[in-house]
Order: sequence, then structure tokens, then C-alpha cells
Amino acid sequence: MSLAQRKKSGRYYTGKSEEVLKTKPFHKLQGKVNLIFTSPPFPLNNKKSYGNMIGKEYQDWFTSLAPLFAEMIADDGSIVIELGNSWESSRPVQSLLPLKCLLDFVSQENTGLRLIQEFVCYNPSRLPSPAAWVTVNRIRTVDSYTRLWWIAKSDFPKADNSRVLRPYSKHMKRLLSTGKYNGGKRPSEHNIGQKSFLKNCGGSISHNLFELENIDPDRDVRLPTNAFSLSNSNSNDFYSKTCKERGIIPHPARMPIGLAKFFIEFLTEPEDIVLDPFAGSNITGFSAALLNRKWFAIDAEEKYVEHSKIRFEDPVLKQVKL
Ligand SMILES: C[S@@+](CC[C@H](N)C(=O)[O-])C[C@H]1O[C@@H](n2cnc3c(N)ncnc32)[C@H](O)[C@@H]1O
Repeated sequence: MSLAQRKKSGRYYTGKSEEVLKTKPFHKLQGKVNLIFTSPPFPLNNKKSYGNMIGKEYQDWFTSLAPLFAEMIADDGSIVIELGNSWESSRPVQSLLPLKCLLDFVSQENTGLRLIQEFVCYNPSRLPSPAAWVTVNRIRTVDSYTRLWWIAKSDFPKADNSRVLRPYSKHMKRLLSTGKYNGGKRPSEHNIGQKSFLKNCGGSISHNLFELENIDPDRDVRLPTNAFSLSNSNSNDFYSKTCKERGIIPHPARMPIGLAKFFIEFLTEPEDIVLDPFAGSNITGFSAALLNRKWFAIDAEEKYVEHSKIRFEDPVLKQVKL
């Protein structure tokens, strides 16, 4: 384990999380982390450049993280884990592994963990996969989303959805300006009062579905104010441009910044602590710094520290008190 990057806002350690989290610097953090936000390696059949376990080996490894994560978070802290789907090797059958991982993770004795809410992150630009069944045999549809599990030790982890509002729809803006609303009973049996929706709250409440890109260019995108399109940001941001200039291959599985910002704003306050145990290019630490939170990052691969350093050269951080 080594401390590879130190900033005023946070620290990046290299080593395997399951080992690093048991070392002294992390003992001191136990019970103090407000949010673990992470995208662990997925259980893929085709190995990515940073390696992936599969099957029962993956499930056991994933489950072994539950007590480690549980002791790091504060009593009202949260764990948010992003995981994609996986497929049975050489079969057009979706694997139950991610679901088994979730069930095992929240069932670990003495951790007190529970699933608070599931989120889905839909990416319309996802390349057709699993290719053998989608593009060659044409018998399955494109697997186009990842899921994020929000897990906590209490039924009431710190959260405030008024910090992550979506812009109002055109219809809602019109309604607010005319002040007229068609109240009454809906077919769903909901009874809507005459003034139920006439208060301007600055935006509407977020949904647990993220759409990373606008499919219809004429349609308004109503992502939360702090989330933005994958294709509009990730490929031409400072990090990607600098990697290109320096001949560095960008991290192969970067998370959209909007996702990290959404959960950091939703579940933490300024000065809170955010930890990413599978940090890669450190989009989590970068987002935390942008939002005036403290961050800790860990990754098994030393090469990704350079990627995190590039993120912290981004001029946008100059405007932030670090
Ligand atoms: C899906 S990527 C995370 C990408 C990151 N969210 C980003 O936006 O750049 C998973 C990361 O976990 C790292 N990793 C794999 N096994 C690990 C382990 N046992 N401990 C720590 N990091 C590990 C990989 O090197 C990889 O960078």
C-alpha cells in the first residue's frame, strides 16, 4: 500500500482495497465516511485491461467487501455501488451474478446493511452487447444500462433530494405561470388537489432513472441540474484531451461525472468525506473536490494515479477552495 497522491481535498492510495482498508490510515476513518461511491470491476467474461474475476470467485470477493465498507461509513452514511449486467459465458442468458452479489452483500451478518433504493443509468450510446446475441444472431436486445445500489446501515441515511432537482418540463413551467391546474381524481386513483403543483420549488424531484444522452434531439433533456450527457462530456473533457496530448490511454471504464456529482450532492454536505475504493481515474475524488467535499481514493493499479493527477490539473478546480 502506498500514498500516491496527496491534495488538500484528499488522498489517493494504491493497493488492493480489501487490504488497504485494513491499514492504519483507514482505521482512523472508520465510522466517519459519509459516502462510499464506487464502480467496482464488473464480473465480465471478457477480461478488461485491469482484470476481472467471474462467477463464484467474484461473488465471494464482492461479498467480503460488505463488512469492510460497513465499518467505514458513519451511522447515517451511504454506500452507492454501480454494477453492469453480466451474461452467461457462450449462452444468450443473462447472469444472476449481480443480483446474487447484492443479496449476499446486504445479508452479511452484523453489518446492518440494507438496500435503500436502486437506480438505473441508461446509456443510449452503449455499443451493441452481448455482440454474439445482439448483432450476429439478432436474438437479444442491446444491454444498455448499469444499475446503482444505494445501501446504508439505517433506514434514514443522510439525503436531500432538493439538492438534485431536474429542470421543470415546458408543461410544468406553463402551469406555474398560468396558475391553473386540472385537479381531481386520476385513473390511478391519486387525488390531485387544485393547488398541488402550483408552488415553484426550483425544479422537479429527481427520478431513479438516469438517461445519459438525449435520443431525440428535439426533446428537452431533463437530467438533474448537475448531471450531463456522457457523450457530451467524457470524450472531450480536460482529462481526455490531456491524456491524448500526453499519449496516455484513458481509463477504459470511466464513470460519467454527472453520476458522481448527483450522488455526492444528494447524499453528502460540504466538508463531508467521500471514499472510492475502486477509483480508477478518480472521477469521484475530482467531483468531490469540485463540490467542496473531502475524498479518499484507492486503486490496485499504480498507473491510474497519473490519471487522477491529470484530473487535478483541470483549470475548473482553480475556482474551488481546495
Ligand atoms: C470500473 S473501474 C472504476 C473506474 C472509475 N470509476 C473511473 O471513473 O475512472 C474499476 C477499477 O477498480 C480497480 N480495481 C480492480 N480490483 C481492485 C482491487 N481489488 N482493489 C482496488 N482497486 C481495484 C481497477 O484497476 C479499476 O481501475
